[in-house]
Amino acid sequence: LREHEEFTKVKNIATIELGRYEIETWYFSPFPPEYNDTLKLFFCEFCLNFMKRKEQLQRHMVDGKKNKVYGQNLCYLAKLFLDHKTLYYDVDLFLFYVLCECDERGCHMVGYFSKEKHSEESYNLACILTLPPYQRKGYGKFLIAFSYELSKKEGKVGTPERPLSDLGLLSYRGYWTRVLLDILKKHKSNISIKELSDMTAIKADDILTTLQGLDLIQYRKGQHAICADPKVLDRHLKAAGRGGLDVDVSKLIWTPYK
Ligand code: ACO
Repeated sequence: LREHEEFTKVKNIATIELGRYEIETWYFSPFPPEYNDTLKLFFCEFCLNFMKRKEQLQRHMVDGKKNKVYGQNLCYLAKLFLDHKTLYYDVDLFLFYVLCECDERGCHMVGYFSKEKHSEESYNLACILTLPPYQRKGYGKFLIAFSYELSKKEGKVGTPERPLSDLGLLSYRGYWTRVLLDILKKHKSNISIKELSDMTAIKADDILTTLQGLDLIQYRKGQHAICADPKVLDRHLKAAGRGGLDVDVSKLIWTPYK
């Protein structure tokens, strides 16, 4: 009789979202009572966790708190290639962005970066890693560019957590150089460090040191001024090498962490 009751119960969840599909359900299923007032449930297509709101699902896909063991294991793995970083067991405090190459066998991690949910020091990236077999293919630059796109969405400037490794510094300097030179080329010199910072979400200190390194800063009347001779810019641009893989911002669906 109990089985029969279960079969005849009125359908509780009308639709579910699973991966790319929204699917109408057929029958009642005994979800815990707190889900009974929900018409639509959002499933993670990988671990089958279900949530009431889409934002929860989006958060679930990247949040260290929700995938604790994965986050901790990722930190152990990453530490094998990171010299100066403290290994945080407290993955709750971070979001993890994992970059994969996908083929018919599935998605294979090539690298990642972590980001503190709340940073007092305006860090927009805690640790970055490209696994050695995948290095020097532009993935590092892509992850760095991505971290700045998140900062733009937050409406904040950001900077990577210090200390930077040698390879970290090389990659960041390369990224900052290319981004800043591209803008200066368009605007000539008529732009301030503050404006550059607003446009790129790169912290003013990082802009100043990058431009000083390129010899594009003069100190006049107690103020730093950008002086970018077009010829000098072209020379630097040539030396700056290839840009990274582009981040397609229109595909970035992200709500800042609150
Ligand atoms: N030798 C010389 N230059 C290098 C090297 C190298 N071995 N590796 C990177 N670079 C420079 C180059 O300028 C390169 O650009 P180019 O290839 O156009 O010349 C640029 O850095 C970035 O190259 P990418 O291919 O975009 O970066 P990659 O995917 O190799 O990742 C990263 C860079 C993440 C720093 C990688 O080297 C790595 O994981 N290293 C070990 C971990 C580490 O040190 N992480 C940073 C710690 S600091 C922090 O986490 C905040």
